[in-house]
Amino acid sequence: MKIVTRIAKMHELSRQLRTGGLTIGFVPTMGYLHDGHLELVRRARSECDTVVVSIFVNPTQFNNREDFEKYPRDEAADKAVLEHAGADVLFMPEASEVYAPGAATTVHVGALGDHLCGPTRPGHFDGVATVVAALLNMVTPDVAVFGEKDWQQLQIVRRMVRDLHLGVRIVGVPTLRDADGLAMSSRNARLGEKERALAPALYRALGAAVAAYRDGEKRSTELCNLARAVIEEIGEFRIDYLELVDGEALAPVETANDGSVVAVAAFLGGVRLIDNVSLARPQMLADASGADIRMRSEDAHYA
Ligand code: PAF
Repeated sequence: MKIVTRIAKMHELSRQLRTGGLTIGFVPTMGYLHDGHLELVRRARSECDTVVVSIFVNPTQFNNREDFEKYPRDEAADKAVLEHAGADVLFMPEASEVYAPGAATTVHVGALGDHLCGPTRPGHFDGVATVVAALLNMVTPDVAVFGEKDWQQLQIVRRMVRDLHLGVRIVGVPTLRDADGLAMSSRNARLGEKERALAPALYRALGAAVAAYRDGEKRSTELCNLARAVIEEIGEFRIDYLELVDGEALAPVETANDGSVVAVAAFLGGVRLIDNVSLARPQMLADASGADIRMRSEDAHYA
């Protein structure tokens, strides 16, 4: 695996690969890699001849310095994991080069950033869109792969790529979950033992909404109340939002349909967790009591 830190080198390498007739699949990350990231690498590998993974903890998408500083990092482990996963290039640009002195351009993707995580994390999605646009320009991939766990991020990146004609195909990969249903996330490492045991309530809550939708409930308030009750019963979460939204526009909907997504963000022991599920394409079916979590057989590999 080649390690590249300079942007000019990355440009040059991409040009060489393309001249050699090879396609480039790109997985942007902030490191502290887990199996969810490796699923993105596998997907990039299945789509393209070469796989570039970037690790860059992007300062402009954090809402405060402390969260940025506390973000887990383990460069040595990440390198080993990527080597093992068969990534071809690890791109680790320096912040001083990504945001060169005097850098003044930001990308703002309209109202999509105003919903869901937007109000709690002002400026976050501008930071994400700006760095993703910059990374896409540095790597110039044919395909870029993102996890569906960050559903809002995925929709914003798709919109940006369409609006700016960036000429890259964006692929979304279903959320990878631990066996108890918790969506994999680098932030899970910050959960204490007790919180880790409670965290799958988010997954069960989404499952309760999905089950009710399948049973014919279409009212958004009812679906959200059912999901909220599962979380509130635990007594340890502070819910930031729990909403039923249109899967693309991300605006709240009153009546659920197959294009709707139930999304949740909640604080547990100081850690902000997010999760979502598409009503038409749930990768899980959990009962609200949590006594029985069954994965649909076609999705079993996501358990
Ligand atoms: O999802 C992430 O890890 C980050 O938001 C991303 C896309 C790498 C941009 O910094």
